[in-house]
Amino acid sequence: MGKYKIMESFGIEMIFLILFGQWTSCACAGTHWTYTGSVGQSHWSEYFPECGGTKQSPIDVKTSQAKYDPSLPPVRPLGYRQLGQEPFTLTNNGHTVEMSLPGWMGLGGLPWQFTAVQLHLHWGSRGGLGGGSEHTIDGHGYAAELHVVHYNSEIYSNISTAMRQREGLAVLGVLIETGEDTNPAYQNIINHLENIKHAGQRTSIPAFDVQSLLPLSLERYFRYNGSLTTPPCYQSVLWTVFAERVSVSHVQLRKLETALFSGHAEESQSLPLQDNYRNPQPLNRRTVLASFPSDTVTTYSVGEVCAMVIGTLCGCVGLAVIIHFVIKTIRSTSSWDVLPSVRPTSLPRSKETEKEPKQDVVFKTTSDPEKEEAAPQPEP
Ligand SMILES: *[C@@H]1O[C@H](CO)[C@@H](O)[C@H](O)[C@H]1NC(C)=O
Ligand SMILES: *[C@@H]1O[C@H](CO)[C@@H](O)[C@H](O)[C@H]1NC(C)=O
Repeated sequence: MGKYKIMESFGIEMIFLILFGQWTSCACAGTHWTYTGSVGQSHWSEYFPECGGTKQSPIDVKTSQAKYDPSLPPVRPLGYRQLGQEPFTLTNNGHTVEMSLPGWMGLGGLPWQFTAVQLHLHWGSRGGLGGGSEHTIDGHGYAAELHVVHYNSEIYSNISTAMRQREGLAVLGVLIETGEDTNPAYQNIINHLENIKHAGQRTSIPAFDVQSLLPLSLERYFRYNGSLTTPPCYQSVLWTVFAERVSVSHVQLRKLETALFSGHAEESQSLPLQDNYRNPQPLNRRTVLASFPSDTVTTYSVGEVCAMVIGTLCGCVGLAVIIHFVIKTIRSTSSWDVLPSVRPTSLPRSKETEKEPKQDVVFKTTSDPEKEEAAPQPEP
């Protein structure tokens, strides 16, 4: 019973947090923000200074520059498949659809123990054609992205404290693309969007296996230090972006893109809740780790490219040296052949024969008198 009460009060605290918008509005309460326009993402840093920081999220993951770290273990979702007694709460908070997660859900395989808090989605507006995911892989955006948010419960007592601290949060990022088949796991959420069309609305939905939202391969991922992707952009997130994508049907994506509005029900000019994704932020010398070696089929690592370039250069230089010596050898042997036999017999000798008599004459005429003069001089 005591355990239950703790769970219950914990759950209530989480619902309280979500109901009163602690997550999205924080200490900067009242500051309205959007993705485009006068309070759009390019202006966030004017109202939320951390949004202009150097460790922001999302990022474009450049797979060739990700550093393979064989010590990174598979991500271990804890209690994700456990349903419990209570339904989940789905909320339209004006920026996204958010689902509260029970406090028994957590994350293992990280440097600290993390407790799950909520999950939410980011998407586009054109069936995924214009993008929709926040993280991109080698410049390629996807139709949508799921974020499962956890806080460091080993160090901090609640998420509102943890989200402001170093390594306070751990978020799982799942890239979503479209395919032919309906994804039953995502249908658990998409089915109920009709009931939360307007900002501030919430609904209870049957609990379901949250792990089924994740890709099958939990051992292949990218890991880096970043931030919340919405204001106040606190740089407290240890990110895990899975390499494997999940797929939803075109109909499911369309529903996600068109079902919700960003304004409250009473607002007459409420806009569709679309394109709620932030653009990739500068990496700024951060390291992106990969839990798996780079795929030789798709890309070569920097080391491999260097080896290939150096190998090719060495080969070229070697070939050049060989060619040089071969040519030199041909030239020198042919010059040996040419000089004594051909040249002297044809041209120079004819000239020499013309000159030789003159020289002989000159030498004879000049040297003879000298010799004659020089010879008698020492004698006397
Ligand atoms: C979170 O924890 C801090 C520190 O323990 C406490 O001061 C604060 O009141 C708590 N916030 C909530 C919403 O429970
Ligand atoms: C994230 O930052 C912490 C220090 O706060 C560091 O120990 C850790 O190695 C970093 N992780 C990555 C993936 O860069």
